[in-house]
Amino acid sequence: MRRQMGFGTIAIVAGLGGLLFGYDTGVISGALLYIRESFSLSGAMQGVVVAVTLAGAALGAAFAGALADALGRRIVLLFTGLVFVAGALLCAAAWSLPALIAGRLVVGLAIGVASMLTPLYLSEIAPPEKRGAIVTINQLFITIGAFLSYVLDYAMTFLAHGGGGHDVVWRAMLGLAAIPGAALLIGMALLPESPRWLLAHQQEEKAKDALTRLRPGRDSGEEFAALRQDIAEADKQRAPFSRLFAAGARLPVMIGVGLAIFQQITGINTVIYFAPTIFKDSGMTGSAGAILVTAGIGLINVILTIIAMRLLDHAGRRALLLVGLVGMFVSLLGISACFAIGLHAGGGHLVAVLVIVLIAVYVSFFAIGLGPVFWLLIAEIFPLAIRGRGMSLATIANWGFNMLVSLTFLDLLKGIGQSATFLVYAVLTGAAFLFTYKLVPETKGRSLEEIEAQMRG
Ligand code: BGC
Repeated sequence: MRRQMGFGTIAIVAGLGGLLFGYDTGVISGALLYIRESFSLSGAMQGVVVAVTLAGAALGAAFAGALADALGRRIVLLFTGLVFVAGALLCAAAWSLPALIAGRLVVGLAIGVASMLTPLYLSEIAPPEKRGAIVTINQLFITIGAFLSYVLDYAMTFLAHGGGGHDVVWRAMLGLAAIPGAALLIGMALLPESPRWLLAHQQEEKAKDALTRLRPGRDSGEEFAALRQDIAEADKQRAPFSRLFAAGARLPVMIGVGLAIFQQITGINTVIYFAPTIFKDSGMTGSAGAILVTAGIGLINVILTIIAMRLLDHAGRRALLLVGLVGMFVSLLGISACFAIGLHAGGGHLVAVLVIVLIAVYVSFFAIGLGPVFWLLIAEIFPLAIRGRGMSLATIANWGFNMLVSLTFLDLLKGIGQSATFLVYAVLTGAAFLFTYKLVPETKGRSLEEIEAQMRG
């Protein structure tokens, strides 16, 4: 039986991969406070519990491209829903620390696959003129997932105070992710496969059928013809993984991997994962308050991402990226200055408030630029013949550097102090600006096939 679905529903179901990415990475900072008690964890072991998910994500991303090229985007995403459910249940039921670590590794694998396949699938099913907004549903869902996890973190502090027990709290927090996981599994069973992938696998009738389902009430004949022509071209050039390093692929690989690294080393996850710590360092007292402010920052991230969705297909990717980087640079300098002044003056309420405001500004500029544009561009700039593998490479780099920054942040704070730490991120943001200015092309309004021709040129 064929169920008819609107395009919005299709995009939202696929976006559940982003929700799980955001929730499962965001939830750990709060859950850790309780896991720590249950297993009497040392600081180093806490680091392991956090990092194992990021390492799993890098590993998942390594396999995702080849799997998606061989088996199809839909089936791999569907299976990923199942892995999310299995990981969540394993965490919720974890009878020992190794079992919990194994569960978080499984969750990480699923996050890695979803983080690259969600934007890939969305980019391949979207009409060109709306592709920016549609692919950014992924980033929007990442921010919503993280926001939900913060709200839950906050709510759970009451449950714990009410005598709910540490164990129940973290098991519930980690286990709840099984619900969107199951929704992804069931939802993907009802969605069409990417017409591009079907055509590349000589399934012409199915490809036509999928495109018709994706463009209800619209003649998709012309789009189908353009697609077929591009795929015929791409097929002739099909080549092994080494093709990624061939001369023609050098520019997209440089842009994809470069932006992947810059998205992380400019410091976003010091805020996403450690905001309560930063706020307390700046002079704020009370954990519950710090978590509540973090939820507020999470909400700002959601709202600005919605604004970015509206702008990406009009102002363009490159312009937003450049403006976003300037805003991040200035606010990071400001944060660094606040800590420098605050420390000399012996801290104080004003500095704490200023740091909160500047962090909100920093996250806002990330949300309209580097956040969504990175995931959008890596879904656009690789030629079809190497799209899966190219995106995998960029995604592995993204998770690898995410882990590097997350593992070094607290040591940097201790070693060189808050002011110098944020100054380092500011300098790296300056470098990201120069990189973008020199190398990143505008891709708005072009079909993936036109972008391919442009990059070849
Ligand atoms: C990044 C994540 C980050 C999130 C914050 C994503 O684009 O890849 O590392 O946590 O944005 O919203």
